[in-house]
Amino acid sequence: MGSFSWNEEFSVGVHCLDTDHDLLFGLINQLESAFDGSPEDHHNICSILNAIVDYTDYHFAREETLMAACAFPHLQEHLHSHDTIRRELSVHAARVREGLEKIDPQQLFLFLSQAFLDHLKDEDKKYQPFMVPQMETVLQANEAFVRRQSHVDITLIEND
Ligand SMILES: [Fe+2]
Repeated sequence: MGSFSWNEEFSVGVHCLDTDHDLLFGLINQLESAFDGSPEDHHNICSILNAIVDYTDYHFAREETLMAACAFPHLQEHLHSHDTIRRELSVHAARVREGLEKIDPQQLFLFLSQAFLDHLKDEDKKYQPFMVPQMETVLQANEAFVRRQSHVDITLIEND
């Protein structure tokens, strides 16, 4: 299985989004460790996967808000890519909840690699040249987003 480790080359030039990506990579690493350590620990694996689903929703909503605020011209394609990932992630998560014997970990991590690493490199990088020159707009839109989301309880597993 591959390893997910955020570094500067993954930066999209916007701190809050880099932090989200780093956090998601950390959760996926925790999931890999959970599978490697004790595959029978179904409860732990489900908890981490639930955190990945919840934080992906939060992160995608933030990214979509900031792209819209910057009038990113490829917003529709990006929304479509997010919708596909959300849908496939929920299918994988549901299958894992049903029981580990139903899933192939290799396939799960291949999906996570495509959904997060490839999406970051191929899609997220495209908004960087639109967002970075509009940083004031980005920061204001993020502040408004965080205020709107403050009622949302996202229980995160510590990022090690
Ligand atoms: Fe994205």
